[in-house]
Amino acid sequence: MKKILITGGAGFIGSHVVRLFVNKYADAQIVNLDALTYAGNLENLKDVQDAPNYRFVKGDITDEQFIDQLFEKESFDAVIHLAAESHVDRSIMDPLSFVKTNILGTAVLLNAARKYWKDFSNKLFYHVSTDEVYGSLGESGFFTEQTPYDPHSPYSASKASSDHLVKAYFDTYGLPVVISNCSNNYGSYQFPEKLLPLMINNIIHSKPLPVYGKGDNVRDWLWVEDHARAIDVIFHQGKLGETYNIGGFNEWKNIDIVHLLCTIMDKKLNRPEGESAKLITFVKDRAGHDKRYAIDATKLNKDLGWKPSLQFEEGMEKTIDWYLANGEWIENVTSGAYKEYYKDQYVSR
Ligand code: NAD
Ligand code: DAU
Repeated sequence: MKKILITGGAGFIGSHVVRLFVNKYADAQIVNLDALTYAGNLENLKDVQDAPNYRFVKGDITDEQFIDQLFEKESFDAVIHLAAESHVDRSIMDPLSFVKTNILGTAVLLNAARKYWKDFSNKLFYHVSTDEVYGSLGESGFFTEQTPYDPHSPYSASKASSDHLVKAYFDTYGLPVVISNCSNNYGSYQFPEKLLPLMINNIIHSKPLPVYGKGDNVRDWLWVEDHARAIDVIFHQGKLGETYNIGGFNEWKNIDIVHLLCTIMDKKLNRPEGESAKLITFVKDRAGHDKRYAIDATKLNKDLGWKPSLQFEEGMEKTIDWYLANGEWIENVTSGAYKEYYKDQYVSR
């Protein structure tokens, strides 16, 4: 029976990865390690919390002693590492917590794997990373696995650094690693500080919709469950030492996606056409705001056969319906630290 450590499993993407693995691999033991920061909520995993092959461990990946003891005690066969500080705006306000969690935390995990995996055969350390490490694109072109790293925000610099550490452990110690770099995810259980759930929540409450700058920055959107499926494929079939880009060839300007949301939500909330769009408010741009991201996921498709399952419009409908049906979840996760942190900003709480 394989024992797989998933870090950050109480977060947005991590909870989808945990759910997929718990449900799909009954013969594997899934251990979810999470510090339960403002972004981590066990509410995200209610449907699998009692599964016999699932266990939650509360802990901090930067706590070396704790991580070492955990690795010594548990004899993991593999790690899927998602725990991170993930929000760019927070990294601008508080860069050091990103350095600590994303760089030091990854180093602590890598080092524990190096020390406690006596034999590297049939082991895997999988680092889940971001397309933001590649920097920003102009009007055309795509990020490929060969694109040089050029991060601009403290968040992306910390993720680039952690990717480099993972590669260094492969080159130096022969630790069996794989990395994936994914584009912007959307879907259920995303903390409502990120663009889409923030806008959906604010539309529901008729609050201003803060669009940074002119709204002409471009992001490449992928349904979170397709990301989780890609992680499953790479985990089982990825080549050691390799990087795989994950994305859906689905670019949108921020302002266009906000208009699309407004149109769909006017219908769902029985509002007159154009009502929600009146809430759009252009605000000061994000510092160092990357202009455009676009992932070339050809390698993942050609080598491992993965492709996205959902058309974007269908994914958006599903996502909006989920947030409309889960007001209590939004209520629960946004009370507390989140409320305090964002008290002066354009959010609905
Ligand atoms: P998230 O912020 O929703 O979740 C992060 C999780 O990590 C939370 O559960 C949090 O409690 C946990 N965590 C934070 N610090 C920790 C620590 N010190 N010890 C243990 N646990 C800790 O993030 P997400 O959006 O689900 O992203 C997950 C991973 O995927 C991150 O590594 C992120 O860089 C990467 N990623 C995200 C996206 C995206 O669009 N959201 C895209 C590509 C890659
Ligand atoms: O590309 C992958 C990355 O996508 C992940 O690695 C990050 O963890 C994830 O947070 C996301 O980063 P972004 O900065 O692209 O996502 P965010 O939702 O914060 O912003 C998306 C775009 O919308 C970006 O151009 C900034 C803009 N924006 C965002 C917010 C929160 C606004 O215009 N207004 C807002 O209120």
